[in-house]
Amino acid sequence: MANPSLLILAGDGIGPEVMAEVKRIIGWMGAKRGIYFDVSEDLVGGCAYDAHGVPLTDATMAKAQAADAVLLGAVGGPKYDKLDFSVKPERGLLRLRKEMDLFSNLRPAQCFDALADFSSLKRDVVAGLDIVIVRELTSGVYFGEPRGIFREGNERVGINTQRYTESEIARVAKSAFELARKRANKVCSMEKANVMESGILWREVVQEVHDRDYPDVELSHMYADNGAMQLVRWPKQFDVIVTDNLFGDVLSDCAAMLTGSLGMLPSASLGAPMANGRPKALYEPVHGSAPDIAGQGKANPIACILSFAMALRYSFELGEEATRVEKAVEKVLADGVRTADLMGPDGGTPVTTTQMGDAVLAALDASL
Ligand code: IPM
Ligand code: MG
Repeated sequence: MANPSLLILAGDGIGPEVMAEVKRIIGWMGAKRGIYFDVSEDLVGGCAYDAHGVPLTDATMAKAQAADAVLLGAVGGPKYDKLDFSVKPERGLLRLRKEMDLFSNLRPAQCFDALADFSSLKRDVVAGLDIVIVRELTSGVYFGEPRGIFREGNERVGINTQRYTESEIARVAKSAFELARKRANKVCSMEKANVMESGILWREVVQEVHDRDYPDVELSHMYADNGAMQLVRWPKQFDVIVTDNLFGDVLSDCAAMLTGSLGMLPSASLGAPMANGRPKALYEPVHGSAPDIAGQGKANPIACILSFAMALRYSFELGEEATRVEKAVEKVLADGVRTADLMGPDGGTPVTTTQMGDAVLAALDASL
């Protein structure tokens, strides 16, 4: 049988640097575990714009559709800030999400013990934290019509539309309940049903899906603003949070800081099963392209490495190997290996991106 295929889109800024470490781990999986992938690479974001005048070509889109999984680094940078909206680097990523129909975005926020003192919150608030935000990723205000900047009398008006169909809400709710059953069996759904009709519908549909198919899962509802507050007040009250595209964007950045650094957070964006039974899937770190540190070897590759671990688990049924990678990261952190973003107030010398990769590979070797 052919090896499973991986399309790597490293993108811009620190994307290629952190992805380089993932490529070494993919190589390690082949050499040490006999697990091989057919890896191909292509462009997305600003680098695709530089080469082709668009942030994602149709040819790359077709490759992504055909791949067993896509690994993405990051897109964007100040160089592209003045580009027309339609060709901004971010549009490449949004096109991938939309056309692959990756409606369920899993963003785990886990606080590794070794980093409990690195959060801006007190240790006992974050130590042992293990929650997942399930963010709806293909609809809502990110894609709703009408949208645009229009003229209205003698001034302009900017319009975006929050729009959710029942089926869009139901499918992401279902994925949150399924995930919760494998965890602490608890879902909190967040919206603004107090001010938005789309929020009222969201709450009703989530409740219906629950009552019909997941009565065993504990379900609560919360306004998203309160949710933001509760995330910083006592995040361990949550297990799985399910929310819409925009609230999920904001709440997941908030949750990221509970873990000590945005450089730690992986994500999986999953769609419907393909003909081979695997879900359509794209894996990417939650962090961005970090242009301020790009090209300096300072970036933390862990979020990208953990995203690959999620690929092993969710696309390739290699849960044990995923755990092996996660444990290797945990060991490296426990050993005190730190990139610049993880330096506490007590200072010390940070390792480079490549040295962090070296340490993870050594921990993987030690796991055999
Ligand atoms: C994210 C990012 C993206 C988003 C940007 C880069 C388009 O912030 O994945 O959280 O807003 O979804
Ligand atoms: Mg974001």
